[in-house]
Amino acid sequence: MKRPTAMIAGTGHAVPKRVLTNHDFAGLGIETSDEWIVERTGIRQRFIAGEGESLTSLSADAARQAMKAAGVTAPELDFIVLGTASPDRLLPATAVEVQAAIGATRAAALDICAACSGWVYGMQVAEGLMATSGAETVLVIGAETLSRIVNWKDRNTCVLFGDGAGATIVKRSTKGRGILSVFSRSDGTLADLLHRPAGGALRPVTPEVLAEGSNCITMAGREVFKNAVRSMAEACDRALDGAKLSATDIDLLIPHQANIRIIEATAKHANMPLEKVYVNVDRFGNTSAASIPIALDEALRSGRIKEGMTVMFVAFGAGFTWGSLVVRF
Ligand code: UT7
Repeated sequence: MKRPTAMIAGTGHAVPKRVLTNHDFAGLGIETSDEWIVERTGIRQRFIAGEGESLTSLSADAARQAMKAAGVTAPELDFIVLGTASPDRLLPATAVEVQAAIGATRAAALDICAACSGWVYGMQVAEGLMATSGAETVLVIGAETLSRIVNWKDRNTCVLFGDGAGATIVKRSTKGRGILSVFSRSDGTLADLLHRPAGGALRPVTPEVLAEGSNCITMAGREVFKNAVRSMAEACDRALDGAKLSATDIDLLIPHQANIRIIEATAKHANMPLEKVYVNVDRFGNTSAASIPIALDEALRSGRIKEGMTVMFVAFGAGFTWGSLVVRF
């Protein structure tokens, strides 16, 4: 494929109204502390979806902003690609609900289940669709309502995750802007380190499943941490190789926002000084597939990304899945 084929033409993001700070966990009867969470993760607060808020509503809000920024209307969308690990329903895909909500009457819509790598995978799918199917305008969303699938009695996980949605309009490249390189990998042999053991067709929800909480996310944190550091390092190297660039050519690194220590280790490996790394994990927690597109939207709207800059994105998540992109703006 000739690159760049696909470029980012507009972005948006949305979060629920309710903020849950680290201090609020005491009131929920969870044995933790602000000190532990900040020291181990860098997280200070996260957004939690309430009544009337859903993956569809957050995604549609983010999508409307992205379309406005790109000067695109909903009927112009050819595809909607939505990365999520917390769909509103198991069937149908949330992407089709977003299609209905925004009135994207011509679009085909599908979900991607690649956990925290959902947006990076989604961007690669969008690029492929533009190269092969003639699609001209693709909406790529990364969105989560993880608060609805975490076990609120498990302090190993419930303090980490947050809800939100980030949307990106992908259009055909002009003036050399767009995706310069992509990389993606998966390793299903490690699936059980971060998963929902039950609640799918293999082991449907039963009173027993609900009692043990095995329909919720479980994670072997330390093992996931090690794999995240290793895989995100590999993904940075491969994306730079693919674009024939070095770290000094990258103006901003936007890594998946899971843990400040993983972000710092990734930046160190990639030889990127921390001033060139976007961090918002303190304000959003780990929003999985939404973390990178939310950070991207903030970076664009605050002027941190300017025309002509080169940005590297890198993600890692359940599966395991990992991947990266280098994009010229
Ligand atoms: O989004 C992509 C996938 N997810 C990730 O990338 C997350 C990767 N993992 C991590 O970020 C880290 O492993 C965690 C933040 C989850 C945990 O940090 P850690 O430094 O690896 O801690 P640990 O799991 O080794 O636990 C250390 C101690 C344990 O106590 P003992 O066994 O040493 O007595 C835990 O029980 O901290 C305890 N602990 C807590 N204490 C207070 C675990 N969670 C909490 C908590 N508050 N919320």
